[in-house]
Amino acid sequence: MQGKTILLIVGGGIAAFKSLELVRELRRAGVRVTPVLTENGARFVTPLSLGALAEAPVRTSLWDLEAEASMGHIQLSRSADLIVVCPATADLMARAATGQADDLASTLLLATDTPVLMVPAMNVRMWEHPATVRNIATLRRDGIDVMEPDVGEMACGEFGPGRLPQVPAIMAAIDLALDDFDFAERPGPNRWLAGKTAIVTAGPTHEAIDPVRFLGNRSSGKQGFAIAAALAHHGVDVRLIAGPVDLPTPHGVKRTDVVSAADMAAAVAERLPADIAVMVAAVADWRVEKAPGKLKKSAAGPPLLQLVENPDILATTGHSTQRPRLVIGFAAETGDLLDNAAAKLARKGADWIVANDVSHGIFGADDTHVHLVTAKGSEDWGPSSKDTVAHRLALRIADVFCPDKERPDPDAD
Ligand code: C5P
Repeated sequence: MQGKTILLIVGGGIAAFKSLELVRELRRAGVRVTPVLTENGARFVTPLSLGALAEAPVRTSLWDLEAEASMGHIQLSRSADLIVVCPATADLMARAATGQADDLASTLLLATDTPVLMVPAMNVRMWEHPATVRNIATLRRDGIDVMEPDVGEMACGEFGPGRLPQVPAIMAAIDLALDDFDFAERPGPNRWLAGKTAIVTAGPTHEAIDPVRFLGNRSSGKQGFAIAAALAHHGVDVRLIAGPVDLPTPHGVKRTDVVSAADMAAAVAERLPADIAVMVAAVADWRVEKAPGKLKKSAAGPPLLQLVENPDILATTGHSTQRPRLVIGFAAETGDLLDNAAAKLARKGADWIVANDVSHGIFGADDTHVHLVTAKGSEDWGPSSKDTVAHRLALRIADVFCPDKERPDPDAD
């Protein structure tokens, strides 16, 4: 994103102060930031701090004659590679959805032909209100990229979706959005893989021991969800089969929730044929015969759990008569990473294996370090966020399906 220009609209919400951290990160990444502060935004951050961090004058009013003399609002709205609204309040989104233009921010949003990324933050009730849901659907239909907010405790003490996403997640979304701008000559925005279908598995599986206990693992589902989001972003019709995870459904993705490996296997089989399969789920290798009632402690000692092997969903898909053209597996290893991954390629009938060393706490984390293993050899992708891995993988997939397109070097930062 180095050398790009972002017009940053800071709305009026308690999360506005985090926009300062975003500005710092953007500047660090070599991005020029043109800050716009709404009247309510100025109640949470001062133009002085925003301007100092952005190293640029802050625009606050449509009637700022000095700014009008140098650059009119129409020109200002088109002067950037991307407009980012952070935080995007319920009010600002409602006004953008209905095309109002009664202050500088809303006028810029109406006048622009530049891609727009909105980063919402608001109280959970406001986020879930049918009016907001409707407005967001309208904005997305209009081609505006609206991020999903984080789930957690709010400044007001309530719990749920509505928190501003973490700054690294916003940076990754900006990175993706800037890619679109670069390659606007593609057939429609975000559409390199339009018409292609993908099955993505994500998260852990839970294997019931009895009605209240299960065998599971620490997979968070973050990597699989990020891949589903990145593929959808490039126009893929994504069917995401998710184990038990606490993550919002990425925009434009069709999600099916499952619990056990057997459920996941059945859900995948039902969704074949597809062009692409990305099996990211940490599927339990074994299940137990589920006891009909809750197992009790007894003088006879602890129960013996007889493990039964689960179906290997990746191998079944990789060797299926309906095999997708591109089958990608993941390998979480704690040793002999590349050898194990290379062996898995043939055994599972996969084209690529994304291998990561999970001995250092990758499970559940936002960051990772993967190697892409193919029949040609392996590439070290270095330490990066899971969003970045998803982004790079989606670009590599696009290479397979539309190799002639003039697209960015996926390995260039
Ligand atoms: O053999 P291992 O579990 O290391 O292989 C990991 C890869 O295989 C992942 O892509 C995972 O989603 C997939 N897998 C599967 N079904 C299983 C076990 C693993 O699809 N039962």
